[in-house]
Amino acid sequence: MARILPFLCFLCFIRWICADTITFDSSQGYGRRFDGIGGLSGGGATSKLLISYPEPQRSEILDFLFKPNFGASLQMLKVEIGGDIQSTDGSEASHMRYTWEENYERGYEWWLMEEAKKRNPNIRLYGLPWGFPGWVGEGTGDPYHNGYKTADYIARWINGAKTKHNLTIHFIGIWNENHYDISYIKALRKTLDNYGFNKTKIVAADGKWDNIVNDMKKDKELKKIVHAIGCHYPGTQSTNDAQSLGNPLWSSEDFCQKNTEVGGACWARVLNRNYVHGYMTSTIAWDLIASYYKDLPGWDMGLMTAKEPWNGYYVVSPPIWTSAHTTQFTSVGWDYLKHGSGVGTLPKGGTYVALANPRRDQLTIIMETMTFEHSKCVWDQKTPFKVEPQNVTLVLKDKLANINVMNMWFTELRFDGKNSTYFEQKKPLKFINGAANVFIDLNQIITLTTLNTGNKGSHPPPPQHVAFPLPFSDNYEGYRMHQEPNYLSQQTGSFEVILDGNNGFARQMLTQMPIPWCKDADDMQKAYNIFGDYTWADILVGFDFRIPKVNGSSGVFVGARSTKAGCGSASTSGIFFFALPDRFEIATDVRRNHVVQTGTLSYSSDSWHNISLHVKGTSVTAKFDQKTVYSGTITSGPSAGWAALGTDSYGLADFDNLEINST
Ligand SMILES: *[C@@H]1O[C@H](CO)[C@@H](O)[C@H](O)[C@H]1NC(C)=O
Ligand SMILES: *[C@@H]1O[C@H](CO)[C@@H](O)[C@H](O)[C@H]1NC(C)=O
Ligand SMILES: *[C@@H]1O[C@H](CO)[C@@H](O)[C@H](O)[C@H]1NC(C)=O
Ligand SMILES: *[C@@H]1O[C@H](CO)[C@@H](O)[C@H](O)[C@H]1NC(C)=O
Ligand SMILES: *[C@@H]1O[C@H](CO)[C@@H](O)[C@H](O)[C@H]1NC(C)=O
Ligand SMILES: *[C@@H]1O[C@H](CO)[C@@H](O)[C@H](O)[C@H]1NC(C)=O
Repeated sequence: MARILPFLCFLCFIRWICADTITFDSSQGYGRRFDGIGGLSGGGATSKLLISYPEPQRSEILDFLFKPNFGASLQMLKVEIGGDIQSTDGSEASHMRYTWEENYERGYEWWLMEEAKKRNPNIRLYGLPWGFPGWVGEGTGDPYHNGYKTADYIARWINGAKTKHNLTIHFIGIWNENHYDISYIKALRKTLDNYGFNKTKIVAADGKWDNIVNDMKKDKELKKIVHAIGCHYPGTQSTNDAQSLGNPLWSSEDFCQKNTEVGGACWARVLNRNYVHGYMTSTIAWDLIASYYKDLPGWDMGLMTAKEPWNGYYVVSPPIWTSAHTTQFTSVGWDYLKHGSGVGTLPKGGTYVALANPRRDQLTIIMETMTFEHSKCVWDQKTPFKVEPQNVTLVLKDKLANINVMNMWFTELRFDGKNSTYFEQKKPLKFINGAANVFIDLNQIITLTTLNTGNKGSHPPPPQHVAFPLPFSDNYEGYRMHQEPNYLSQQTGSFEVILDGNNGFARQMLTQMPIPWCKDADDMQKAYNIFGDYTWADILVGFDFRIPKVNGSSGVFVGARSTKAGCGSASTSGIFFFALPDRFEIATDVRRNHVVQTGTLSYSSDSWHNISLHVKGTSVTAKFDQKTVYSGTITSGPSAGWAALGTDSYGLADFDNLEINST
């Protein structure tokens, strides 16, 4: 005995100098309530291509996003309330284009929310508008001009969710990254209560901290009716004022990074640090899924990528597995432990958080050691920090000391060409007298949990990547009424399929200037839409069209080599053929500022015609009703870009028998 003692002490000494200690102590109480990790579909049109996926891939993708104990297992889904406006990567349909109409069959957010709820009945749903139909502002362009009118428009969306789709909207926002109006927020609360939605809570203001926090400090009623303060891209920081209000603090838009290993690391870092540094209890990724064409603004900035609906190819990207480290081992309503006794910075850099369930019989600890260089998010704070590999001794105190063993889940992101390890279960970690040692290297996530439910879900590999296949055609048969046309990436304006007797066609629906989000694109007052592949050079695009007599647009166009989309749509160049009622124009920009050729044309509204545009090298041929109206050489246009179609002004126009072919 006497001979062993010094040796044991020597071991203790080694452990003491080699390992730093972090303590988890429930006797110190608990911190804030966890509100869930989510993804944002919209802002804008970021899930556009997903609904057009073939089965079984479409269901598989939804499993990776929403199914509990499978993949990202998201706890919250935030969606755009479509306003027929450009909101980053396209425009999403409004549920009320006129004061007198309501429609809850448009777009794809209803479908997505239903699919999410099917997989996780407890998922939280959160709606937020980016823009509004023009009538909402009664012609002023200001949605707060008549706050009760706007509030009614929003309440009807919540009501449509409930009555048409059996969806409960838990949270509702004000106006994405725009100004808010206190009397509108109050009108919204009253209106929701009148509708019976007193459980739908308000999140404000989906911008930065200061204004809303200052207003809430000054206005008790506002502080009461704003449930959570939602800040965008907080860079893991909140203000002292925000914290002292006591309302939940959310990073209601975050991430914004390509979903490579760096994206996975950015996401892992903010999920922990938003609480460690900023006391934020919910973090929502823009965007949920990169399901919009490559080369659109911020392409591949989703938790995973699915942008080839023609084939079924998708990628389960690193952020799916870095989400799982938190989402699979927590639930909304769990509580963080207190800073210093379960939440904090690891001794040699990196962070840890611990959460317990309300019954206090489950514990989850998440540690991350992302390095500054490899975990940047695009809009993040840029202050460098250091992280080193380290041995950590975890000490469980108070009731937690009863825990003898914790399951261990491990991710290591590699940036040296070696393969990363994603969400792998390791041997359980044994605690002896409430203590255990863990070695954590750089760019790792370790989750320790008493839950046994973790699971790395899998599906058979999807088909191989292929480019948008040509020839492509669509006659809009086989759609349901009001469905948005497949693959048509609407940038401005809004399209839906109309079934008229035996014929289905796609109609541009927007007739009035909406209240925009990023102004320039919608200000063109053209419905502009793209298809396919940014590298398309020699191409033929054509379709049948008809302009209705009432509220018809002032013409239609077909385009090739179209270069811009998103908020920059108004500066699109390309080769465009406009069929206007009294003439045609060939232009090298979508705004018709650079007209190469104009000529006579006359056609009647309310009857079908067709147009096509064929570009090959510098030679351009435009046909109207099968007759060539222009054939010439254009050297001033771009060399490649998307196929395009649209209307010359807001106003109805019908499209059918679309054809795209390489030549
Ligand atoms: C509506 O959803 C709830 C769960 O949120 C479910 O219990 C109920 O059965 C659903 N009703 C219908 C008609 O599907
Ligand atoms: C919501 O309204 C119902 C019915 O009017 C009422 O019973 C309930 O107490 C209200 N809940 C809240 C949180 O105000
Ligand atoms: C961690 O501990 C192991 C032995 O327990 C030791 O070999 C290793 O060097 C330590 N690493 C660091 C970074 O301290
Ligand atoms: C790395 O991953 C690739 C693709 O999954 C695989 O083909 C390769 O064998 C892996 N390499 C190692 C060393 O595991
Ligand atoms: C145009 O109309 C003609 C005659 O109806 C038809 O053959 C052709 O396929 C239509 N579409 C295009 C793009 O030319
Ligand atoms: C035409 O547009 C106006 C508003 O811009 C609307 O009141 C009217 O109902 C529309 N008519 C049709 C047939 O869509």
